[in-house]
Amino acid sequence: MSDVLALKYRPKGFDQVIGQDNIVKQLRAALETNTLGHALLFCGPRGTGKTTTARIIARELNPDLTDAELAMNVSEIDAASNTGVDNVREIIENIRYNTRGHKVIILDEAHMMTKNAFNALLKTLEEPPPGVMFILVTTEPHKLIATVVSRCQKYEFTEVDRETLEDYYNAIVQGENLEDTISRDVVYGISLKAEGSVRDGLSILQKALSGETIADNSKTYFNLVGAIYSQDVTTALDLVSGLRKSEDARVIIQTLEKWFYWCSMETFGMRTPVREYFGEQELVFDLSHLQKLFDHCLDVERSFTATPNSKTVLDMGIIKLCL
Ligand SMILES: Nc1ncnc2c1ncn2[C@@H]1O[C@H](COP(=O)(O)OP(=O)(O)O)[C@@H](O)[C@H]1O
Ligand SMILES: [Mg+2]
Repeated sequence: MSDVLALKYRPKGFDQVIGQDNIVKQLRAALETNTLGHALLFCGPRGTGKTTTARIIARELNPDLTDAELAMNVSEIDAASNTGVDNVREIIENIRYNTRGHKVIILDEAHMMTKNAFNALLKTLEEPPPGVMFILVTTEPHKLIATVVSRCQKYEFTEVDRETLEDYYNAIVQGENLEDTISRDVVYGISLKAEGSVRDGLSILQKALSGETIADNSKTYFNLVGAIYSQDVTTALDLVSGLRKSEDARVIIQTLEKWFYWCSMETFGMRTPVREYFGEQELVFDLSHLQKLFDHCLDVERSFTATPNSKTVLDMGIIKLCL
């Protein structure tokens, strides 16, 4: 039941979509001037509002329809389980039926469709029947064939920044009258852990509501980065063994990558979540060292697939990071 909040707070209109201001602005303008294309491509990280926005467009295109009528006009197709040519034929067949208003076909996980299926769709994508719009949704646009991409208006959704998420989750906690159960510190931790995904943060918040303690390991990561940086192997291994109690080995390495990335951004004067741990202290990082640490992490990540023994790989990886 980790989706309760995500469902309850799924935006019904553009004004409820957070962190995608540019896209919302463009889409609103295009709808107003009737210049929205008939094939759109929504790409970007998971849980940032792609499917939600596609549904909002369907709603905006059909202001006169009841919810039930609208449901008849919107097909949400999970391309992951409808990958083949036959599925595409079925889609094309279906859009021939006349119904009132605009039809919107949302192809979720579009990158999972086979090349043949896409080729079968190309002509329709280029010139759909009047009143039909395709919205392709994907987290991996590079896997789409170029002929498809070139036929679509592309919208790139971005990770939502941490402060925006924090405000959003605080507002939800307040709206649900849960300020006594979920402290602001916990909300802060959730906004970090969400890593830019509104949905991921909502799932964590949901867990917190059902009484699950949310491990906030940020401080530990801060210390771990410090230990690695000062080549203190014993402390680093100790901290990692603590982290393993609540996190998967792969997640630990990926989180470290994120930290090294943030530290690198800090050297260019950009504000990132790590800033809050360092306080007002001036951050002196050696960019090439950070780069090396990041590359080591990527190596460790790749090694996980080579052997089932993730503890060994992780510990050896940490030692290497400290050297
Ligand atoms: N930009 C956003 N603004 C508000 N809520 C969002 C946003 N993005 C995602 N959500 C929340 O996460 C849930 C899943 O979003 P969804 O649109 O399916 O993400 P995506 O398609 O990008 O993976 C929504 O029901 C909503 O609660
Ligand atoms: Mg989606």
